[in-house]
Amino acid sequence: MAEPIVSLLNPEFEDDPIGAFARLREKSPLVRIGFPGGPPVWLITRSEEFKAAWSDPRLVTNISNVPGHQGPSIADQALTSLDVPGELLRYFTSNLMLQDGRNHTRLRRLVAPAFTVRRMKALRPRIEEISTELLDAFAEKGSGDLLKEYATPLTGAVICELVGIDKADQLQIRQWMDEYANVDADFATSARGLFAYAKDLIARRRAEPKDDMISTLVQTTDADGDRLTEDEIISMVGVLVNGGYHSTAHFIPNAVVTLLENPDQVALLRARPEALPHAINELMRIANPIPSAGPRYAVEDMEVAGVSICKGDAVTGSLQSVNYDPRVFSEPEQCNVARELKRGEGHLAFGAGPHRCIGASLAELEGEVAIDHLFLKRDTLELTVSSRELKFREVIPGGARLFSKFPVRL
Ligand code: HEM
Repeated sequence: MAEPIVSLLNPEFEDDPIGAFARLREKSPLVRIGFPGGPPVWLITRSEEFKAAWSDPRLVTNISNVPGHQGPSIADQALTSLDVPGELLRYFTSNLMLQDGRNHTRLRRLVAPAFTVRRMKALRPRIEEISTELLDAFAEKGSGDLLKEYATPLTGAVICELVGIDKADQLQIRQWMDEYANVDADFATSARGLFAYAKDLIARRRAEPKDDMISTLVQTTDADGDRLTEDEIISMVGVLVNGGYHSTAHFIPNAVVTLLENPDQVALLRARPEALPHAINELMRIANPIPSAGPRYAVEDMEVAGVSICKGDAVTGSLQSVNYDPRVFSEPEQCNVARELKRGEGHLAFGAGPHRCIGASLAELEGEVAIDHLFLKRDTLELTVSSRELKFREVIPGGARLFSKFPVRL
């Protein structure tokens, strides 16, 4: 019998996403879902099954690695609908998110030196400085939009500084990145602007290296003498700036509202501030803004989560559903900043397997600084509307938790 197709546009996913995913998860670890205008996609709903599938090399991110494939991938369809000019397509399709196997390993290995523990550690004082400046200005005003006036400028400045974008150009870069995320904006113009900027910056850092990621990427040569090409660096800049900006910016208000709704957890944190890194894990589990992992394609007929799927089928995983899986997290709907988990049982907000988020430790660090400054260094933060009045911006159906604004008083 053909699998029934579940629509994530069904109002129950908007009214009560946690409950709706819980019902779906208990029905099956793998369900067939429909997206408007596209073929059905398989959705993994449980944690263990997601981890196993995301480590299975028979599920690839690049559809051209499926032998004999025909027709566009989901990414190709998105690029067509965004009218991305032909000459820019290679920057989107050559990014590491869309590479598999050796091509992917090669890019990850070459970009890894830019994300060393040393580099991340060295960033903390600067992140604290930017956060303090923004919050002092905010507190002076008294009230405003925490997303626009704190979280977005914080994560925008951090990723721009890390990559090596000159201070004078950061506003322009952030404007382009905002346009990326806004379906009404001119995507092609912002993409063209960003990639041309990256090309120019690479030339400048090649001539005169600085202590930034672009210079590291330009100089990176691994043991085999392999180097990133200019196109690969441009593509990497796009993916890092885009990946490092909005997701972390939206995590901050999501974490804030979770803590405001759980004052006992804030009290616990104030009593034991050393538990903050642990608490960030719990907040990432509960307040992750990203609804699902990118699509994978089966290279052969195979079983995923115990269900037979066909070669070429697309599979994704609901990060919200897997992070609330009661098989791993007891009382998953409770925010418990002291939650004890066994090794390997962490949340999956950053995905799993070879494509697990490369910026995870940076996102955690920014989250830590934000929660420290908003809740531990201060105790006056409050919403100026009821949490029920906060509106999520529905970009992707089925659980994208992105607030359009976040009015608070400080
Ligand atoms: C709260 C913040 C963040 C969340 C929830 C998040 C989530 C994710 C997820 C779920 C994936 C894997 C997607 C998949 O398997 O299809 C991913 C990959 C990635 N993320 Fe993040 N991310 C965050 C912050 C960042 C930051 C700060 C950066 C950059 C500095 C970044 C850069 C990337 C890149 C480059 C990849 C692709 C890795 C690969 O394909 O090998 N992300 N992220």
